[in-house]
Amino acid sequence: DKADPPPEGRLPDATKGNDHLRELFVQTMGLTDQDIVALSGAHTLGRCHKDRSGFEGPWTSNPLVFDNSYFTELVGGEREGLLQLPTDKALLEDPVFRPLVEKYAKDEDAFFADYTQAHLKLSELGYLLYLISNLILNFLYTSYMCV
Ligand code: HEM
Repeated sequence: DKADPPPEGRLPDATKGNDHLRELFVQTMGLTDQDIVALSGAHTLGRCHKDRSGFEGPWTSNPLVFDNSYFTELVGGEREGLLQLPTDKALLEDPVFRPLVEKYAKDEDAFFADYTQAHLKLSELGYLLYLISNLILNFLYTSYMCV
């Protein structure tokens, strides 16, 4: 382990909008609009913590299961007990992002396929934080092997 944390400003800012997401993921990392939407679906897992990000709560009602419920919740609108970050809601306002959100809400296999590709690209960039979520890749790989 390194003694010092990485510099501030490399992670996305949840209070911002689509310009910020594109600046970080497309211009800085070389990913695509489709990658941004697919990767946002990682928020099907886990939750926000007030003492860490200032936001509180999970995105989905089953935050331990990797599925397309991030997208079904997003198109379904806000619900009590669940959270949508400004960056999540911004996906619905963009003419390129929104159709992808709707596609993944309807077609879980399409989400899994695009997520796998986007996650692999992200991991190969060497952003160590994201390597943690290789767990997700293993899960997807195992699921595909079982069908
Ligand atoms: C699109 C830009 C993104 C924004 C604005 C964003 C923002 C956030 C925020 C604010 C939290 C809550 C932190 C806390 O309070 O504990 C969070 C958690 C999380 N993020 Fe993201 N994130 C983004 C992209 C990603 C990506 C690309 C991945 C993985 C591929 C990811 C995976 C996760 C996971 C799994 C959690 C839950 C952590 C936990 O349960 O403790 N996020 N994100």
